[in-house]
Amino acid sequence: MSHNVGTSTQSLHADDALNVVSDVAPPLHLSTTFRYSDDPSELFPAADLNSFGTDPTKHIYSRASCPNPTRFETILTALLNGKAISYSSGLSALHAALTLLNPRHISVGEGYHGCHGVIALFTRLTGLQKLDLDCDPTFLQKDDVILLETPVNPQGTAFDIASYAEKAHSRGAFLIVDSTFAPPGLQDPFAFGADLVMHSGSKYFGGHSDLLCGVLATQRDDWASQLFADRVFLGSVMGNMESWLGVRSLRTLEVRVQRQSANTSRLVSWLHSALHTPSPAPGSDEAAVQAVLEEVFHASLQTTEGDWLAKQMPNGFGPVFSITMKEENLARELPSKLHYFQHATSLGGVETLIEWRTMSDATVDRRLLRVSVGLENWEDLRADLVGAFRGLAGL
Ligand SMILES: Cc1ncc(COP(=O)(O)O)c(C=O)c1O
Repeated sequence: MSHNVGTSTQSLHADDALNVVSDVAPPLHLSTTFRYSDDPSELFPAADLNSFGTDPTKHIYSRASCPNPTRFETILTALLNGKAISYSSGLSALHAALTLLNPRHISVGEGYHGCHGVIALFTRLTGLQKLDLDCDPTFLQKDDVILLETPVNPQGTAFDIASYAEKAHSRGAFLIVDSTFAPPGLQDPFAFGADLVMHSGSKYFGGHSDLLCGVLATQRDDWASQLFADRVFLGSVMGNMESWLGVRSLRTLEVRVQRQSANTSRLVSWLHSALHTPSPAPGSDEAAVQAVLEEVFHASLQTTEGDWLAKQMPNGFGPVFSITMKEENLARELPSKLHYFQHATSLGGVETLIEWRTMSDATVDRRLLRVSVGLENWEDLRADLVGAFRGLAGL
């Protein structure tokens, strides 16, 4: 093709070569095992194979590969600009990444608390030592890792991928970017020097709050082969049903995320300006916001040195943001006053969620609520928030 194929076109066609039946909607394959060829000349003993998984239409046993996860990975390989390998969850993807690289030190920020749980497992097994994200570069040694989550949980603010890539590479270390909060279309970490890209696919790839999965992507063939080989023994493969649902969901990834991102920027911009309106009229929406809301966090509000953020996220920011309320009790009560924001953890689904974050993360400010913006009309979300703030403020 003479031009770069767009994200949605890739989502719909990158797996065309796997259409071995005439169904337009891909079939769901449940078999764990697959018949070998009837032709003896096509039977190759395992010891004679120097790589596996090379023909994506051939399968032996589903802990190694099978049709639905392969289709899901084929689409993601096109979308992520690197060979994609799927896992049973985002955390099993991180587990596989650390198994691959086996670093002695990992430099990491706060971010998603579950990733720190995986790091703690490795510390127990291998003595892996945790360093601050902004540690002195000389603390990093060859083959160590910087794990950068951007945009970061729960705030939705961003970090400069290129500068962390430079820091890692200057020491012979590697940069893993957890890009869960910015799926393809919003951010390509490889373009800024990431060595390994990770996603909790339970979020935007699944997109409907009905599947768990994780994904790693790499541009190195040797790493891709090792990851595939390791996964056979880790056993953390994605299920057939989940990957079938995943393909269904990837078809609409770009349009979902565009709408969620646009909704988020509008809501955040409205909240921010309401919060900073000087001397709001008594009884106004702005007065209600100012009575209960303390702060809003999102990449769209970030001021940066230089233009790295506009370059890193040229098409819009992530669809998650956070707010802190003036008091813990207001944060506890806000979800009960909302109609369209469901009070639940997780993010990335078509429906808007809000979470009093201390319910699932013991490390955060107890006044903080995280919002994952869905596909509703943003004016309805704003009206819902206004009503809730008014209720809390007694207006
Ligand atoms: C940034 C980030 N990374 C990783 C994970 C873990 O993903 P999973 O729940 O699919 O294991 C999450 C889950 O919330 C997350 O938000």
